[in-house]
Amino acid sequence: MDMQPETAAAPGVRFKMIGSTAVLHIDNPPVNAGSHAVRAGLAEGIARATRQGATAAVLIGAGRCFVAGSDLREFGKPLAPPDLPQVIRLIEEAPFPVVAALHGVALGGGFELALGCDYRLAAPGTQVGLPEVGLGFVPGAGGTQRLPRLAGVARAIELICSAARIPVDVAQEDGLIDRIVTGDLLEGALAFLAEAPQPKRRALDLTPPAEAPERIEAAATRALRRGKGRPNVAEAIRLVRASAGQDAAAALAEERAVFQRLRLAEDAVALRHLFFAERRAATVDGLDMAQARRISRVGVVGGGTMGQGIARAFLAAGLPVVLVERDQASLDRAMAGLAAHLDKAVAKGRLSANEAAGRRAALTGALEERALAGCDLGIEAVFEDMAVKQQVLARMEAALPPQAVLATNTSYLDIDEMGAALTDPQRLLGLHFFSPADVMPLLEVVRAQATSDVALATGLRLARDLGKQPVVARVAEGFVGNRIYAAYRRRAELLVLDGASPEQVDAAATDFGFAMGPFAVADLSGLDIAWAMRKRQAPQRDPQARYVAIPDQLCEAGRLGRKTGAGWYDYPDGAPMPSSEVAAMIGAARQEAGIAPKVPDAATIQRQLLAAIVNEAALLLDEGVAQRPSDVDVALTNGYGFPRWRGGPLHWAAAQQEAAVAADQDALRQAVGHGFCVGPVARVLDQIRTEQKG
Ligand code: NAI
Repeated sequence: MDMQPETAAAPGVRFKMIGSTAVLHIDNPPVNAGSHAVRAGLAEGIARATRQGATAAVLIGAGRCFVAGSDLREFGKPLAPPDLPQVIRLIEEAPFPVVAALHGVALGGGFELALGCDYRLAAPGTQVGLPEVGLGFVPGAGGTQRLPRLAGVARAIELICSAARIPVDVAQEDGLIDRIVTGDLLEGALAFLAEAPQPKRRALDLTPPAEAPERIEAAATRALRRGKGRPNVAEAIRLVRASAGQDAAAALAEERAVFQRLRLAEDAVALRHLFFAERRAATVDGLDMAQARRISRVGVVGGGTMGQGIARAFLAAGLPVVLVERDQASLDRAMAGLAAHLDKAVAKGRLSANEAAGRRAALTGALEERALAGCDLGIEAVFEDMAVKQQVLARMEAALPPQAVLATNTSYLDIDEMGAALTDPQRLLGLHFFSPADVMPLLEVVRAQATSDVALATGLRLARDLGKQPVVARVAEGFVGNRIYAAYRRRAELLVLDGASPEQVDAAATDFGFAMGPFAVADLSGLDIAWAMRKRQAPQRDPQARYVAIPDQLCEAGRLGRKTGAGWYDYPDGAPMPSSEVAAMIGAARQEAGIAPKVPDAATIQRQLLAAIVNEAALLLDEGVAQRPSDVDVALTNGYGFPRWRGGPLHWAAAQQEAAVAADQDALRQAVGHGFCVGPVARVLDQIRTEQKG
């Protein structure tokens, strides 16, 4: 075959002719993000293929994928021409068929590019999808028009609004992929073209397959509900539905206009901030990740709520687990709990019987730490008690190989003190999972005084392998997340003591966008844990500080939350209802404290809850507990139900008027009163604004 040497069409795309087929290699490491250079290179490549009389063209990705998405760094500014719709128009108007050959991932603009080609071939294991809605905007290069023409309107609504990535076999069933190519992808694409004349076949010329209107209606309703009322979800649905109309050009223009507006709007700016913040949170400046140890077997000591969840998380990631409990009865309970969980997942169709059997086989129970001899990571999740943890960790250290990493799942205890009981405290770090540990994405990776770089890098790498979002913290009471949450909850309780009802505070929080309000959360997790902690801390309590005794009284009355059928709320039929008993307790507490209750409006409640979060975040940044402001945003959105579309509390605060933030902090100081620590809020927000400008 006649093959020309490869030349760059423009930086970002390499061009060569193989026979009469033009091959355009998209080459923009590491993930071939669709940058300006790539767009320009594609446009030039198609023009050159036309000039050279090509009879076909193949678009293919160099390296690990086709195109992982458009380059989000360009998204905050005007996009330089040619834009992606222009590139796709050139492909559609080319006098020869264009084949997209996909591998790895083809996402967002990358998948829209593929949808603009005449044929789509893909290697096994490829994933495709349109994640734009998850980033606050809508597909802007024809995704809302071409996808429904191939897969149907209902399915397009589902795929676009869920921002899902789907595997190639599913995409083929949906009509989005023409052929799965095993073996060399480029050769497969050339063979496809050689098999038979492949005519031009533009997705835009198709009409969406006939569908029952109820199916479309149902898909739209589901998507709106899941989309929590965000405006871009409704827009995406409207645009997809327009694909059933005749005027494709007008629909494309409308899509582009909506895209241009939404990509610069608040939601998209916030979600883009989180996109980069999450990647940055997984890094520590100056830390060489190459020293991370490879983990192939994990020991978990303690098989209670957390130990079981942690074991499930490792098993789901394909890592064998040895679970150690203190006695046979506890071990039996833990193993039965894990088995029941697997059975339920199979019954619900979330897991195949085969996969469940595999996980069962990968799990071993034991009664002594000696069983950890073959593990390269040991993590303890025993009772929250320093003496118990020190003893357990010392036994784990003795049992584990000398290279192994040791971790504690403690929520509040001092990891430096735990390390003092070890021969080599450098191996110890905190891996603070959230409950349920196999579901919640956040993982706080705690770097104690002595923690080595190897242990830290291993923890971060492990987070990635588990599909978790890490946030690095230093040792401090409650680390990053729980410490901020405690300040937030305390503010919520003071709001109630001063005049709001729990339901008013919760409603204000959920109106702001929190998944749940603080009192509903307390009822769900149980009031007894914090009660036990308050009792422990009672001797050190500052008698001059304001103290809200209502939660103690709730516990004394047996109202421990949902698990006892009552807490801050009553649960007559499972749903929370305001409780007259609780209202009476609150009234009595106000009277005892001599408070004339004043009911704040929802906006004041919201601003005070946020002020508490922001003040505490500023304090812990000042103390170096969190590495950087954006890590706080990542922790709160991934572990505490803070609305993602607001970008996290510090991103939110940096966008507020400085004077308003200062006034909120002042009101917070007055409400908390004696013992309040003023965080350097203005300085932290200044730092954020400076970074935003740069
Ligand atoms: P849990 O009480 O449900 O489980 C503790 C388990 O450890 C029990 O099954 C007990 O039999 C076992 N155990 C105690 N001593 C042991 C020993 N010497 N050897 C082996 N096993 C032993 O407690 P939970 O909730 O699972 O908490 C465990 C740890 O995780 C605590 O440090 C807690 O602070 C932390 N944590 C808890 C979270 C939660 O939401 N419950 C969230 C994040 C961390």
